[in-house]
Amino acid sequence: MTTAASLATTKPAGERVIVLDFGAQYGQLIARRIREQQVYCEVLPGDAPADKVLALEPKAIVLSGGPASVYEPDAPRVDPRLLEAGIPVLGICYGMQLLAAQLGGKVRKGAKREYGRTELYVSDFADLFRGLEPQGGEPLICWMSHGDVVEAAPPGFDVLGRTDDSPVAAMADRRRKLFGIQCHPEVAHTPWGSQLLRNFLFDIAGCQGDWTIGSFTEQVIADVRAAVGEGKAICALSGGVDSAVAATLVHRALGSQLVCIFVDHGLMRKDEPEQVVGTFRRMGLELVAVDARERFLKRLEGVADPERKRKIIGEEFIRVFEEEAGKIGDVRYLVQGTVYPDVIESGTGRAAVIKSHHNVGGLPERMNLKLIEPLRWLFKDEVRRVGLELGLPESIIWRHPFPGPGLAVRVIGPVTQDKLDIVREADAIVTEEIRRAGLDRDVWQAFAVLTDTRSVGVMGDQRTYGHVVAVRAVTSTDAMTADWARLPSEVLERIASRIMNEVPDVSRVVYDISAKPPATIEWE
Ligand code: XMP
Repeated sequence: MTTAASLATTKPAGERVIVLDFGAQYGQLIARRIREQQVYCEVLPGDAPADKVLALEPKAIVLSGGPASVYEPDAPRVDPRLLEAGIPVLGICYGMQLLAAQLGGKVRKGAKREYGRTELYVSDFADLFRGLEPQGGEPLICWMSHGDVVEAAPPGFDVLGRTDDSPVAAMADRRRKLFGIQCHPEVAHTPWGSQLLRNFLFDIAGCQGDWTIGSFTEQVIADVRAAVGEGKAICALSGGVDSAVAATLVHRALGSQLVCIFVDHGLMRKDEPEQVVGTFRRMGLELVAVDARERFLKRLEGVADPERKRKIIGEEFIRVFEEEAGKIGDVRYLVQGTVYPDVIESGTGRAAVIKSHHNVGGLPERMNLKLIEPLRWLFKDEVRRVGLELGLPESIIWRHPFPGPGLAVRVIGPVTQDKLDIVREADAIVTEEIRRAGLDRDVWQAFAVLTDTRSVGVMGDQRTYGHVVAVRAVTSTDAMTADWARLPSEVLERIASRIMNEVPDVSRVVYDISAKPPATIEWE
């Protein structure tokens, strides 16, 4: 087996800020807030070695919050060389406590945990707090979440502010350009937080703020064009926003060198195959649409175990994809819609628009393909903005996430054509009613599940014994945790009555009110 080789190590050009993540609940949020200021930024593990960070030539470094206590023996630390490099540093929460602890200040356990809305008394508005002087000397309202407090700032630091419980709630060593703040400027509950970040980025660190989705898009197109030589690139198009935007972007770079493969496994939502194929053909992409419905259904016959279903579908997908790629010939690249949270989660943060990879069931290695991942530096909302910029329709941009194994994991028990038809119709009603109520962007996902339970009903004086359909709608920001959506009862009522009236053989509709954890979003 050959390992797919890395092609290029390009990443967004120009100035960048590094966020060192110490396990913050809000680590990615800091990065997003910085990007909202049109400053490109990346997240690296908190203990990243100085050489690695400095090689990226950051204009500034932000130390995030985190759950540890700096005085615990194995608490994560920042490489001290980063504090001596002359690069402006902003420590937030745990990040500030690290500055204090590592530079000779004093951190102790607070008398009580300071959590939530807190009054901050700022005594120095020279730079970090510039423009934030409150009228009439009122304290600034900020959002706190910490148990430890900085009792004494290190030598060389001025105290910029305090709270009732934190004698040092903000501090600065201007000579070394080191700044610390105990509260969280990145959250909406600190209403002046973005002004403070702007002060740090533009006034203190001298950033220009010239990173935009438009400039990113242009650069990626140019990079992909420069890195890819002869041969074809292929992309598995699912209709999901990530693969759709990745394909469109690469198409701009490579034109007809890119061929998209759309596998209709018969497990899609209503009208989805036609919509996806139509959209991309209209946009001029070369697209192979494979009708593989029969072969998937056949392989799924009698299979009830969810993990087996997933495995079968994954394998069959690769098989179909490989067959089609073989027909295209001279395929050398695989386009994937990997996004930045995946990169952060895998802990690599490695630099590449195009790199080797080990997913898609080992496909890149087996076929000796190089990987093109044009979205690996972007957050989901940025991916959507790129998509809009490239002219993708809103129906694709705002589509809810959909599992690869599709409706097969929304039919509990063995999958049959009849059951797929039922769940597809029910799902279409859920989607339609949620959209009609204007709620589709408020919920993360909303769908129907066909349970393997039957229940007694009554219709036109006749006893019925039909299927039970479960409706699931959740709110979430990243699918890691989710809560059931508090849909208005009128919407739920309409969904239930339409499903029971319009979908044959359904006698009951229930609403799933499980949070994740302990439940998952999908039922299987
Ligand atoms: P769970 O059910 O684990 O789902 O809470 C979390 C998110 O992932 C989606 N999901 C999948 N996506 N292939 C995918 O591409 C899969 O096999 C798969 N399983 C679940 C799910 O819809 C939710 O958004």
